[in-house]
Amino acid sequence: MPNTSNHAAWIKAQGQALTVSDVPMPQPGAGEILVRNRAVALNPFDGIVQTLGSLVTPWLRYPAILGSDVSGEVVAVGPSVSRFKPGDRVLGLALGIDKLANRAAEGAFQNHVILRQEAATVLPDSVSFEQAAVLPLAIATAACGLFLEDQLGLRTPCVEAPMPTGKTVLIWGGSSSVGSAAIQLATAAGYEVVTTASPRNFDYVLGLGASRVFDYNDTDVVATMTKELGKRDMAGALAIAVGSGAPCIDIMSRCRGRRIVSMASPPVPIDDAPLGSQLLWKLRRLPRLLAGFVGLAIRARLRGVSTRSIWGTALMKGALGATIFNDFLGPALASGRVVPAPKPLVAGHSLHALAEALALLRRGVSASKVVVSL
Ligand SMILES: NC(=O)c1ccc[n+]([C@@H]2O[C@H](COP(=O)([O-])OP(=O)(O)OC[C@H]3O[C@@H](n4cnc5c(N)ncnc54)[C@H](OP(=O)(O)O)[C@@H]3O)[C@@H](O)[C@H]2O)c1
Repeated sequence: MPNTSNHAAWIKAQGQALTVSDVPMPQPGAGEILVRNRAVALNPFDGIVQTLGSLVTPWLRYPAILGSDVSGEVVAVGPSVSRFKPGDRVLGLALGIDKLANRAAEGAFQNHVILRQEAATVLPDSVSFEQAAVLPLAIATAACGLFLEDQLGLRTPCVEAPMPTGKTVLIWGGSSSVGSAAIQLATAAGYEVVTTASPRNFDYVLGLGASRVFDYNDTDVVATMTKELGKRDMAGALAIAVGSGAPCIDIMSRCRGRRIVSMASPPVPIDDAPLGSQLLWKLRRLPRLLAGFVGLAIRARLRGVSTRSIWGTALMKGALGATIFNDFLGPALASGRVVPAPKPLVAGHSLHALAEALALLRRGVSASKVVVSL
């Protein structure tokens, strides 16, 4: 192995700040690859796990290394790895905080990370590490919502021009990272996509393949979209962004086809809990969160719509993970069927930049993804 030193940004316990220090160099086991990270992207969930780990990832062992999105070069491969070799440029979904792994060696926020081969993709030379890092969790979350049998259960995507299904998917929040991935995956599976975004991002989402876009800030957006979608045969809705569940339920209740909404986001924000003690925050926010979920369940029941919540790494429990990361994404990036989107917003060039990068993400982004190059 060419390098024996490894560094990570880790947290000692829930609510703690990131600390950068030496950590052991991970060794790849069967079916695993060791990757020298060149870029990592940040997700709202990273900050949520940092502050609310006991609520959202109660299994997590500390000290923990957070982060899901990586791209870099393969340094070593474990036994029974056939798809990757040292020197390959890859992107990957790091599973360190997931119940499946629960292991610091698989957390993204370090210089060397262990990836499972079924969660990694060889990159074409045309895609930079910073561009690639925006994709993994967004693609995984969108794929879970669109394709898992217990979610929308849609036909899976293909690299060649897909046979049109004649059906439409509503993707609420098309300019988010998850939305950008969802538009591309759904169109690659042969579905027409109708989406929402702010007007400044209309051209962006249409460029990714959506056929119509509506401004979610309009007060009559539900009525306008219902009028448009009421004419179509619907395959379901993907609700991305806080508060998107209710309008999606309302629209789908008045449409033909499958009245089902897969939800990626909670009904109220949970990404603003402070470091340190979260007691006051929890006393104020958790009752609102609970009321939000109960309200959504009642709304859906009254309107005859079925709802699901998405766990963005659930695809790794079955064959869908390898279908997306090994079979589809590499060729799709090489052919241009999938483009790396949204654009990376590079917030720094070392593990020390991650804390400020998380703060930047908390302040909010539009059609961009916060990335740190390493
Ligand atoms: N369940 C899971 O496993 C999982 C996994 C990943 C992400 N998520 C969740 O999915 C959501 C998106 O994550 P992300 O990383 O893709 O976010 P992101 O890119 O940081 O989200 C920013 C984008 O969201 C759009 N947006 C904000 N509020 C909106 C609203 N009310 N309706 C429609 N669009 C809105 C903005 O659009 P404009 O700038 O055009 O206004 C902006 O482009 C977050 O809530 C995140 O926590 C869940």
